[in-house]
Amino acid sequence: MITLENIRKDFPGKTGAITALDGINLSIARGEIFGIIGSSGAGKSTLVRLINLLERPTGGEVIVDGEPVTSFKGQPLRDLRRKIGMVFQHFNLLSARTVFGNVAYPLELTGEYGRIEIAAKVETLLARVGLKDHAQKYPRQLSGGQKQRVGIARALACEPDVLLCDEATSALDPQTTGSVLELLQQINRDLGVTIVLITHEMDIVRRTCDRVAVLDHGRVVESGPVTQVFLHPQHEATLKLVREAEPDGGLLGNIAAVGASGRTVRLTFLGETARKPLLGRIARENGADYQILAGRVGNIRDTPYAQFTVSLSGTDVAGAIAGLRSGGVTVEVHGDDVVEHSSVTPLPALQRGGGLRHVV
Ligand SMILES: Nc1ncnc2c1ncn2[C@@H]1O[C@H](COP(=O)(O)OP(=O)(O)OP(=O)(O)O)[C@@H](O)[C@H]1O
Ligand SMILES: [Mg+2]
Repeated sequence: MITLENIRKDFPGKTGAITALDGINLSIARGEIFGIIGSSGAGKSTLVRLINLLERPTGGEVIVDGEPVTSFKGQPLRDLRRKIGMVFQHFNLLSARTVFGNVAYPLELTGEYGRIEIAAKVETLLARVGLKDHAQKYPRQLSGGQKQRVGIARALACEPDVLLCDEATSALDPQTTGSVLELLQQINRDLGVTIVLITHEMDIVRRTCDRVAVLDHGRVVESGPVTQVFLHPQHEATLKLVREAEPDGGLLGNIAAVGASGRTVRLTFLGETARKPLLGRIARENGADYQILAGRVGNIRDTPYAQFTVSLSGTDVAGAIAGLRSGGVTVEVHGDDVVEHSSVTPLPALQRGGGLRHVV
C-alpha cells in the first residue's frame, strides 16, 4: 500500500541543514496495522507527514498504491489526501462546530455531496465510533476519548484506504487508550483500512500492530513482525523501548553477572507453547532447577507469550535445554552465540513472517 524508497528529509537550520530522516526504506502492506516507534525527535511525525505529502522529501520516492506520488500537485494531490485520513494527538477539532459539523466538514469540502447525503454518512460514521447520541455537542463538552472518536470519524469520512495516527492515544488515560486502540483494530478489520500507528510506547505496538519499524535518529534501525521485534530486540534503541522494565536493561550478560550460579538462559514461549506447562515438567525430567531472574507474560495482539530469564542448574542442564527446544521454546543461552546490544546489523525492512533470527 505504501512504499518509502530511500527517503531523506532535511530541514533548514541556523547552522546548516538538520537531517530529520536519512535513507528510509519501508514497505507497508495493504490491510495491516503498521507501527512506527521511536523516542522523541527520532523523526516519526516527519515520516508520517511525508506519506500524505504534508512534507515533501528532500530525496527519495513515496509510492502509494503502486504510484509514485512525490511530485503530485493540484487535483492528484487532493485525491491522494482523500485516500489517506489522519488522526492527531491533540484531536485538532473545530471548536465552533458540533460533533456532527466536524465530521461533516471534509465531506462538505469535496463539494460532491448534498445535505441529506452528508447527514446520512455522518450518522453512520458516528454510530461506528460510538457517538451517535453526541452529534449536537461541541468539542468542549466531550471527554478526551470522545474527542478522539470524533477525530477518527472525521478521518474516515472520505472513505480512505489508509489511516495515519500520530500519537493518537498519547493524550488519553490508559483505559481510554485501550478503547481507542480497540476501535482502530475494529476499523482495520471491518473496513480493511491500512493503519500506520506512530507511538513512543512499545505497549501500544504490542497490543495493536502486525509489524513495526523502530526509528532512531532518522533511520530505521530494526523492523519486522511485532512478535519478533518485541521478543527478540536487536538494536540498542529497541532494547531501551522493550526491556526498560527488566533488570539491567534485560541483557542476559548483565543478568547473569548478578550472582546467578547456574546457566543463564532466556526462554520464550509463543502461541500454543505459552499455554503448556513445559518448564516444570522438563526441569523435573532432567533433574534441573530453575531460578527466575526476570520475566514477562502477556499477549502480542491475540498471541499469548511468556518470556523468562532463568538460571538453570542441577543434573542435566543441557538435557533440559534440549527438551525445552524440542517443546517449541526458543532458548537463548548466555555465553552462546547470542547477539545483543550494539554491533548489530539491522533487519531488512521488508522481512516478513515467522523466522526468528537468533534461535540458538
Ligand atoms: N519544520 C521543522 N523545521 C526544522 N526542524 C524540524 C521540523 N520538523 C521537525 N524537525 C526536526 O526533525 C527531527 C524529527 O522531528 P519529529 O517531529 O519528526 O520527531 P518525532 O519522532 O515525531 O518526535 P516526538 O516523539 O517528540 O513527536 C527533530 O530534530 C526536529 O527538531
Ligand atoms: Mg512527533
